[in-house]
Amino acid sequence: MRRVLALGALCLLAWPEPAGAQFPRVCCTVDGILSKRCCPALGADPADVCGVLSGRGSCSAVRVDTKPWSGPYSLRNVDDRERWPTKFFNQTCRCTGNFAGYNCGQCKFGWTGTDCDQRRAPVVRKNIHALTPAELQEFLSVLDRAKTTIHPDYVIATQHWLGLLGPNGTSPQIANISIYDFFVWQHYYSVRDTLLGPGRPFKAIDFSHKGPAFITWHRYHLLSLERELQRLTGNENFAIPYWNFATGQRECDVCTDSLLGGRNPDNPSLISSQSRFSRWGVVCNSLDDYNRLVTLCNGTNEGFIQRGAIESSSMSMPTMNDVRSCLGIRNFDSPPYFTNSSFSFRNALEGYEKPDGELDDSVNNLHNLVHSMLNGTSALSHSAANDPIFLVRSGTFLTLCHFGVVPFLKNSQLPLCFASQVLHAFTDAIFDEWMRRFVPSNATFPDEMAPIGHNRNYNMVPFFPPVTNEELYIRSEQLGYSYAISLDDADGGPSVFVLGSTLGGVFVGLLVLLLIFVLYLRQRRNRGFEPLIKADFTNRKYTDEA
Ligand SMILES: *[C@@H]1O[C@H](CO)[C@@H](O)[C@H](O)[C@H]1NC(C)=O
Ligand SMILES: *[C@@H]1O[C@H](CO)[C@@H](O)[C@H](O)[C@H]1NC(C)=O
Ligand SMILES: *[C@@H]1O[C@H](CO)[C@@H](O)[C@H](O)[C@H]1NC(C)=O
Ligand SMILES: *[C@@H]1O[C@H](CO)[C@@H](O)[C@H](O)[C@H]1NC(C)=O
Ligand SMILES: *[C@@H]1O[C@H](CO)[C@@H](O)[C@H](O)[C@H]1NC(C)=O
Ligand SMILES: *[C@@H]1O[C@H](CO)[C@@H](O)[C@H](O)[C@H]1NC(C)=O
Ligand SMILES: *[C@@H]1O[C@H](CO)[C@@H](O)[C@H](O)[C@H]1NC(C)=O
Repeated sequence: MRRVLALGALCLLAWPEPAGAQFPRVCCTVDGILSKRCCPALGADPADVCGVLSGRGSCSAVRVDTKPWSGPYSLRNVDDRERWPTKFFNQTCRCTGNFAGYNCGQCKFGWTGTDCDQRRAPVVRKNIHALTPAELQEFLSVLDRAKTTIHPDYVIATQHWLGLLGPNGTSPQIANISIYDFFVWQHYYSVRDTLLGPGRPFKAIDFSHKGPAFITWHRYHLLSLERELQRLTGNENFAIPYWNFATGQRECDVCTDSLLGGRNPDNPSLISSQSRFSRWGVVCNSLDDYNRLVTLCNGTNEGFIQRGAIESSSMSMPTMNDVRSCLGIRNFDSPPYFTNSSFSFRNALEGYEKPDGELDDSVNNLHNLVHSMLNGTSALSHSAANDPIFLVRSGTFLTLCHFGVVPFLKNSQLPLCFASQVLHAFTDAIFDEWMRRFVPSNATFPDEMAPIGHNRNYNMVPFFPPVTNEELYIRSEQLGYSYAISLDDADGGPSVFVLGSTLGGVFVGLLVLLLIFVLYLRQRRNRGFEPLIKADFTNRKYTDEA
């Protein structure tokens, strides 16, 4: 890390005007952007490009997926995320062996040692409720530090790609961002609309949800955050906790001041002042503004995290039965690899179909339902559906937790986001259990005709250097982590599950929220709950956008 920092400093000295999109700071110079080449030297010797002198890698043309895609994004060549990342860089370091990173200075996930040739013992992601007090403190403190520490290596683009070099073509429109906000920004960037012109967003695009990449994308997102947190703590065994949301309960059991923050008694729309998260600012929340101004989220603080005031009385969390049901679906995904796929493990987990794989109209009401429960007016537009406001303004914290995991949260927002991170961790744990059961070949991940960004060999947007969906479609142990949870149910029945879930834990959030969502729908139907909103209304909105 010291080397990386030193390198960064060196490069800044060499090129006093950094510029870029969410890319390494060292590559975001006028020269770097114009040449589309991001092949930094590893260390002080400028000839050691990509660590070539020690055989770590070399500067190579970026490979992109050329297979056809399907889905609602029907435009061509107007979105900077097509053929990612070649609108920005077409040459990057291609690392050999187990080397990785934008300058081949790191090891691939799951490997360690100076030559990256030793398997690392998997870090263990535990149930957030099973952390020791010291582990919990470490986790909460490092989140706080990540929220305030400038990312050592990466910067974000703050303007549309066509204006990336500023009005005169000489000043890269980039900004520093904290490690945690970088994480939020990446999520925002993957779901934001295509900017065709002032007030003319094209909304039917999503690189991280509504398709098979939902699973691999969030997996990589969490892994990168986890790695940054390991660097911050100096504890290479640090692991993100997970939150087992499949409790079947009505309460959000992590929404307390000792965990992710309770409700503020004086202002129910805010987080309790006893929680550190009450002071967290929100970023990347104003999607409509960005669309209107044809600009990108620039990482500015847009206010405190808010929580809605609706009492959600009839909701309850998914159950382990729901989880088990979803784990029984053998197909990873099914055509059209979208929200209307049926008997798709991915779609069930993501929450667009019932846990048993059956497609049902009511499932399409899920997030609409959530919206109404959240009672945010802006929650009715497509961008709002992906908007963190979803999280931020959701009804009770319970609602929040339910929906934090919702797939269309546009931005992973902060605390919610954690909740959602925690959730994601759990979702990922469920996926890992599914992999263990079915041992799928990588050919089960569609290599064509998935929505844009979701083909097997598409470089996941906006990760850099490029990484494909396929590279994450492997067991978690191979990526250097595991879950302290047993979802091994087979015929074990509920008691085994309960035991397993007690032993396990989940923290990483977004995915988990999705699962919760699905479960919730199912429960709602099973119990004959009245729809909370007029289905027609929300349904139409949703369909329009889809
Ligand atoms: C990469 O981009 C540069 C700058 O636009 C261009 O000159 C070059 O031909 C491109 N190379 C490839 C392999 O596309
Ligand atoms: C662009 O160039 C003009 C004229 O040279 C100058 O006045 C202006 O300050 C420049 N703007 C930026 C952002 O560099
Ligand atoms: C970003 O932060 C780095 C070091 O933390 C600093 O050297 C650089 O000037 C900052 N860049 C911008 C655009 O603020
Ligand atoms: C960042 O964006 C906000 C709104 O999106 C805008 O008000 C602010 O001026 C921008 N800041 C910079 C430094 O461009
Ligand atoms: C799935 O939804 C898409 C977009 O709404 C639609 O074009 C397609 O026909 C649907 N496919 C099925 C099998 O329902
Ligand atoms: C939604 O919010 C509005 C205004 O804040 C309130 O009048 C309405 O009762 C709320 N709806 C629900 C279902 O809570
Ligand atoms: C995909 O599977 C094939 C055959 O098992 C294997 O050779 C290849 O390495 C796999 N790809 C990845 C990225 O794991």
